[in-house]
Amino acid sequence: MQAPLGFCSPLFLLLSTCVLVSCGLRYISRRQSLPRIPGPFLARWTNLWLAFHAHRGRRYIVVHKAHQRYGVFVRIGPNHVSISSPDALSVVYGQGPRAPSKSAYYDAFVCNGNPSIFSTRDRRDHSTKRRAMSHVFSSSALEEFVPLIHSTLGQFMLKMDVLCEAGEFFDLLPWLNYLAFDILSDLAFGEPIGMLQQGSDVVSVHLSDNSLANENAIALVDKREHFAAVAGIESWIPWVTKYMPFLSGIQAATSLEQLAHRQVLRRLSSFRNRNDILGKLINARGCDARSPNAAEIAGLTAESVTLLVAGSDTTSNSIAVILHFIITNPPVYDELLRVLLDATSDSNEPGYEQVKNIPYLQAVINEGLRLHSITAIGLPRSAPSGGLVCCGLYFPEGTELSVPAWTISHDAELWGDPDTFRPQRWLEQKELRQYLLAFGKGPRACIGQNLAYIEMTSVIAAILLKYKIEVRSPELTTIEGFMHKPLHMWIKLSRR
Ligand code: HEM
Repeated sequence: MQAPLGFCSPLFLLLSTCVLVSCGLRYISRRQSLPRIPGPFLARWTNLWLAFHAHRGRRYIVVHKAHQRYGVFVRIGPNHVSISSPDALSVVYGQGPRAPSKSAYYDAFVCNGNPSIFSTRDRRDHSTKRRAMSHVFSSSALEEFVPLIHSTLGQFMLKMDVLCEAGEFFDLLPWLNYLAFDILSDLAFGEPIGMLQQGSDVVSVHLSDNSLANENAIALVDKREHFAAVAGIESWIPWVTKYMPFLSGIQAATSLEQLAHRQVLRRLSSFRNRNDILGKLINARGCDARSPNAAEIAGLTAESVTLLVAGSDTTSNSIAVILHFIITNPPVYDELLRVLLDATSDSNEPGYEQVKNIPYLQAVINEGLRLHSITAIGLPRSAPSGGLVCCGLYFPEGTELSVPAWTISHDAELWGDPDTFRPQRWLEQKELRQYLLAFGKGPRACIGQNLAYIEMTSVIAAILLKYKIEVRSPELTTIEGFMHKPLHMWIKLSRR
């Protein structure tokens, strides 16, 4: 009989010794090179301190509290320094050949060995991918997508009509997720996955033994994102977990890849010359749509997974929190409704065209993104060769640096009243825009933000113009994976 892996077994002792020796060596080597930066005791020795809090979905708040205790510079890992100063933004997320690049954290987001525009750390690879994708997301290209978005939004409103007639509280969040997923799959693959129609996010995916299984797509996105957000913190975790296909985060990543792979193949085999994201990507990459090779298909699949994950629940969760803040702040609700009714008074079927240029609506959206901080963690970057100076301190090459988005978004010196939902601030102080971190900063900032604004503007306006909304609770319970998300949004609709 085999001996169990007890506390006294030789294997356990060997593993613990390895972990302790590696923590010790890392600490000693970094103590020589990093300036004396305070931080939680455990974080000086091991990344597992940060990984533990990320696993619990509370990384942003633990790091925020560490800044309140230790000040602007906090060591949140043996080689990771968090800098809570707005001045650090232009250095850590700076442009130019000597700007920091993404850190090894992003390796955990690589799909099947194919880095995407989001996960690649190589600057040249990133610029090639970004160039290929930038015209897909330019404002003029996105205008062409508006009718497609409106058609899916129409289906969503029909579902809302039914829920409104029922006159009961329901969770709006899954419906917003279905809407965002359908919009994105329509734009990306040429057809909606059909979640709104079926009123569920169940999709069928092939398992490794080629059998079919039903999976909840939104849960797959959540699990994949949460897993990567934790695993990326310690460089050996993604490497080791590659060999553990039974882990739910790995299974979720594989299932999503299969879903995207299938949609890409369907889209390619349809030979349609549709003006959607995949069509534009195929043209930009110069692929032969009639006989793409395996590498081209793998590359398109990696980008498609990225788009599905980066563009679906980010947008739906943002819409949910912004609506929540509007409804729980009656003066804002009244003012927003007044300007929306004004702008659409001579239109029977108001759409994006009528509401896209309302400054107060844009201010409400930005204030919601700031207050909730959909991007709450500090996005990690790596100091370039020769190191860099940030806020007066020198950091050697390879130091992981991040600016904690939640802390900056709630900085009293910057915002005055950071915990108040006050959209007016965006109209009074236009310069605040540079501190909105929802979409990241610098060369790796969100490429889909124009699309996100079209969706957020259209959906929020459509719902407010059609219904009166009541929320069940003024509190919003949230959790953090890579993004900071609400868990539910219970509302009741009635006709306006
Ligand atoms: C409200 C909605 C959204 C939010 C809050 C958001 C947030 C972000 C953030 C913070 C980043 C930077 C990540 C980093 O530096 O690690 C990012 C990057 C990215 N986002 Fe978004 N995003 C949203 C919507 C979208 C949409 C709709 C798409 C596309 C369909 C999209 C596609 C991407 C891509 C491809 C990147 C990687 C860009 C690069 O590295 O060059 N996002 N997003």
